[in-house]
Amino acid sequence: CGIVGYIGHRDAYPIIIKGLRRLEYRGYDSAGIALFDGQDINLSKTKGKVEDLNKKAEKEISTSGSLGMGHTRWATHGVPDDVNSHPHYSNSGELVIIHNGIIENYESIKKELIKRGYTFKSDTDTEVLVNLIEEVKKQENVKLGKAVQIALNEVVGAYAIAVFDKQKPDEIVVAKLGSPLAIGIGENEYFIASDASPFIEYTNNAVYLEDEEMAIVRIGKEIKLRKIKDDAIAYPNILELKMNIEQIEKGGYDHFMLKEIYEQPRAILDTYRGRLRADQGIVKMAGIDEHLEKFMNANRVIIVACGTSWHAGLVAEYIFEDLARIPVEVEYASEFRYRNPVITDKDVLIAISQSGETADTLAAIKLAKDKGAFVFGVCNVVGSSIARETHAGAYTHAGPEIGVASTKAFTTQITVLTLIALKLAKEKGEVSESNFHQFLTELETIPSKVEKALESNPLVEIISDVYKDSTNCLYLGRGYNFPVALEGALKLKEISYIHAEGYPAAEMKHGPIALIDDQMPVFVIATKKGHYEKVVSNIQEIKSRKGKIIAIVTEGDEQVTELADHVIEVPETYESLTPLLTTIPLQLLSYHIAVMRGCNVDQPRNLAKSVTVE
Ligand code: G6P
Repeated sequence: CGIVGYIGHRDAYPIIIKGLRRLEYRGYDSAGIALFDGQDINLSKTKGKVEDLNKKAEKEISTSGSLGMGHTRWATHGVPDDVNSHPHYSNSGELVIIHNGIIENYESIKKELIKRGYTFKSDTDTEVLVNLIEEVKKQENVKLGKAVQIALNEVVGAYAIAVFDKQKPDEIVVAKLGSPLAIGIGENEYFIASDASPFIEYTNNAVYLEDEEMAIVRIGKEIKLRKIKDDAIAYPNILELKMNIEQIEKGGYDHFMLKEIYEQPRAILDTYRGRLRADQGIVKMAGIDEHLEKFMNANRVIIVACGTSWHAGLVAEYIFEDLARIPVEVEYASEFRYRNPVITDKDVLIAISQSGETADTLAAIKLAKDKGAFVFGVCNVVGSSIARETHAGAYTHAGPEIGVASTKAFTTQITVLTLIALKLAKEKGEVSESNFHQFLTELETIPSKVEKALESNPLVEIISDVYKDSTNCLYLGRGYNFPVALEGALKLKEISYIHAEGYPAAEMKHGPIALIDDQMPVFVIATKKGHYEKVVSNIQEIKSRKGKIIAIVTEGDEQVTELADHVIEVPETYESLTPLLTTIPLQLLSYHIAVMRGCNVDQPRNLAKSVTVE
């Protein structure tokens, strides 16, 4: 979910609506807004998107007032409908809340409140929380801030909340545990949001709340920060943000996803810029340099991640083992955290996450830290929860990724992980000086080779048109390109809702081959070097069963080109770097098919960009 709040001297409504649009990547099942016009709280909410809310609110409420808060929701408790959307009132109608996260013990609290005469309009945990705050306020005879603090000490769960009390119209109380919350500081005005994008055009100064912190944001006063548990005063660390608004807008492309696909040459360059010095034969990464002995003495590396980031982890497994000869295990964070894994202080855990907020990945990190492992983060979002929770890390520097289907985050994650593997290979003496040097030089050619791979776009569009009505697709690859097959299939599923499966090419004969007939498109990654001959045999197996073959091949390929129905060429590079190129046409393919099928490319149904619930 995404939350936005404003208190100051401007009209709150346009600021909040615009802010919610920027946060729609966090969830868009429903949206709502509450405004205080100096006298009354005016509240409007609806199932659907921020645009629906905008239309509804303008009709049904007065949109005036310089205090307000809004919410865009990704449903956890309660189906997405008008009633379950936020904001929620307390029973008296005097308190309003917006909440991102989950209150796990809400049912027992709800029972208790019902006993005391409270009634509930929605099924949400959030409505329980706002009434608990109201009850505490009454029982203890305290002000809003104190009531929020006492109430939060009774709940179990994760939250970023903003609460407003009609009786204290000059302040908003916010608190955070697990879900992100930033406060933008302007001249005599404050902004509250899940990330800085809603307020970046008004101010560059922001405070990110830490877990278990709350703040009273009062007009004309400095922010008052406190620890929720022990009431200790905390001092706000005001950061100066560098992000600009152009970075988060579409920049001339029809969709963020397409823009982000095309940003990859630049994003990959930004990832290694300043870190890689081919001419001097060095890779400089502060996060590794400062903890080198942890990596050198590690028994193994465990990689945890979810979704596309997990696929980047699989690619890294090949690179780490192949180049640096370090044993690697790759795990879904959601499985790892609950299976009582054997972890020692000789293990290094690498957590990969674009958003840096994924709840399962965060939980896996906490578990590994508790067991003494050294934890390293690979994140895109600077200052995100995972970046803060890990012992050390490396940012991918891909820039904001707005499209829900991850693209540039994936290739930049692979780039960072390749740099790390190379650096460790060098330190361990697993590569010769000259091979190392050559590898770095080759890595520096990748942005221009990605550029070249992007030139396949018109051809990919034609191919997309041929297969856009398929109901099933198979993606095959081997070695380094097996994870690319998984990622290709995931991209298609996510945004075009076509069922797709990725498989290691040789495993096809143990199952998926039964599905192949003349209706089945099979996307095969068949670049030179990567077990090429073996993939050619797999292609023959598909062909003899009349499957349609779309192959990603190396420039100048002849053998596969002869066999396949369509081929898409990518430039030649080292085998271990091919995922950075073979991914590109598969991203474009899923993009075009989704557009042709009339799907919402940037905001596919049921998905969220940042999943802060488990
Ligand atoms: C969500 C997104 C995916 C992403 C996954 C992991 O499911 O829709 O694109 O790969 O979360 O997110 P993370 O931010 O941890 O990389």
